Amino acid sequence: MTQLSAAQTPQAKPSDAGKALYGGKSTRRITVRDIALAKERGEKWPMLTAYDAMTASVFDEAGIPVMLVGDSAGNCHLGYETTVPVTLDEMTVLSAAVVRGTSRALIVGDLPFGSYQEGPVQALRSATRLVKEAGVGAVKLEGGERSHRQIELLVESGIPVMAHIGLTPQSVNAMGYRVQGRGEEAAAQLLRDAKAVQDAGAFAVVLELVPAELAAEVTRVLHIPTVGIGAGPETDAQVLVWTDMMGLTGGRVPKFVQQYADLRRVMGDAAKAFAEDVVGGTFPSEAHSVH
Ligand code: KIV
Repeated sequence: MTQLSAAQTPQAKPSDAGKALYGGKSTRRITVRDIALAKERGEKWPMLTAYDAMTASVFDEAGIPVMLVGDSAGNCHLGYETTVPVTLDEMTVLSAAVVRGTSRALIVGDLPFGSYQEGPVQALRSATRLVKEAGVGAVKLEGGERSHRQIELLVESGIPVMAHIGLTPQSVNAMGYRVQGRGEEAAAQLLRDAKAVQDAGAFAVVLELVPAELAAEVTRVLHIPTVGIGAGPETDAQVLVWTDMMGLTGGRVPKFVQQYADLRRVMGDAAKAFAEDVVGGTFPSEAHSVH
């Protein structure tokens, strides 16, 4: 088999190696090595979810360095009530679309419920589909100590893994949507989970809905970056579900979400304006007509 020389690998481009993840204008796709270097520099970075090529291309152009094709697609894109029903086939199609819509961001594909819990071999089979068929640069899976064997095999096999601890929505039927890590025992378990995924080789770990002080402690203790969602300001990175932060999600959004736009209103107003123009006969006009 032909081996790529160091100079041919994307990581080897010296011109991009020390650039900031956000605002550094990297000319190639970001890798997990860039993520590790950002932690060494003490640099904070943003991550957004994305579920389709067009939205992903907007975020890529905006310079978002890491995008997660989260199984939050279940409730935010596919119309399910939770993430539990999402399938690996669905995640593969959505992840491939996001990869096609981007040229710079590191794309992380989420392993959905039921695609890795049986054990490391099932996890490897599922992750391999996301890497080979969708082209993602890394995968994410939920669980700390309970998932360390899966993480180990994926990493040994050359698949970078982002771990996810604290609130793990795939376990909603067992744990509900409650803050995790409150109290001495729960905090000690969260720290054990964080160290377990780091020791297993994860390149980053999502901390979801945990007390800010605990997230800060985990961030200090680990040498891999922490990605917070509802975990306070001290984590290395922050992730939000894009439909929540852009105001597209209907109904209530979690307290930790900051809304940066009101897309639901903007889109609704545009749809109504179009409908009124059609009904009133003002669209199409002469300017939109061909002869
Ligand atoms: O599926 C998802 O979008 C996630 C993030 C909330 C971290 O897991």
